[in-house]
Amino acid sequence: MRFHVLTIFPAMFDGPLSESIISRAVERGLVRVNLHDIRDYATDKHRSVDDYPYGGGYGMVMKPEPIFDAYTAVKHAASLGEDTPVVLLTPQGTPFSQPIAERLATLDDIVLICGRYEGVDERVREQVANCELSVGDYVLSGGELAAMIVIDAVTRLIPGAVGSIESTQDDSFSTGLLQFPQYTRPAEHEGGKVPDILLSGNHGEIEKWRRRESLRRTYHRRPDLLDSVTLSDNDRRFIDTLRSNDN
Ligand code: ADE
Repeated sequence: MRFHVLTIFPAMFDGPLSESIISRAVERGLVRVNLHDIRDYATDKHRSVDDYPYGGGYGMVMKPEPIFDAYTAVKHAASLGEDTPVVLLTPQGTPFSQPIAERLATLDDIVLICGRYEGVDERVREQVANCELSVGDYVLSGGELAAMIVIDAVTRLIPGAVGSIESTQDDSFSTGLLQFPQYTRPAEHEGGKVPDILLSGNHGEIEKWRRRESLRRTYHRRPDLLDSVTLSDNDRRFIDTLRSNDN
C-alpha cells in the first residue's frame, strides 16, 4: 500500500511515521508514505501556495495550480490508475469510519490532499479529488492531522502490520459495537477486581460475557450504533433487559 500525501507541511508527518505501528509497517515494506511538498510546485519566486479569496472575506485560499501540478506529477511518477482514491481532507467530507478504513486497506494506492488555511480552491474538489473525508465535526488547522488519522487507521488493518489480524477484529466499530472492557494483571489493584469470568478459563462463557459487555457499553454510550448492527435473539433479549433496567 502506498500513501501519496500532498501537503505544505511534510515535516508534520515525521513523528507518527517514526513510531509504533506505522514505522514498523514501513520497515516491513507493508506501506510506503510518500510525502510531496505542494510548495515545490509553486511557480512564483515567493513559492506562494495561497491567495486572497475572490469576492473578499477573511483568510487565504490554497491556490489550484500547485495542487493540480503536484497531483499530476505524482500520478505519472507512481503510474496511478484512474480509480485510485484521491482524497481531500476537509471538515465538509464524508465522516471517516471503520468501514471506510477497511475498504481503503484493500487498495494499492491512496492520494491524500491536505488542505490548509481557510480553504482550498473549489476546482481542486471538482477536478482533482474524487473523494472527501472528514475526521470529525471540528475544524483542524489543516488536513495533515486528519491524513495521519487515515494513514494510521488504514495501516493497522493491513495484514502483518499489527501482531495478529485477530487483534483488530475485536476493535470498537469492527464488530459495529464498542469494545468490551479489557484487563491485564494483577487480578486485583487498588480494590478494583478483574471480573471472575475472565479468570475462569471458560472461553465460551468469556465470549458471551464480552459480547454482553460490548452491547452494554454501546447501549449506554453510542445507542445509535445499535441500529446498524446485526443482533442475534440473545443480543436483543439482553438489550431488552438493559432497557427495562432504565425504567
Ligand atoms: N481539515 C480541517 N478540519 C478537518 C477535519 N475535521 N477533517 C478532515 N480534514 C480537516
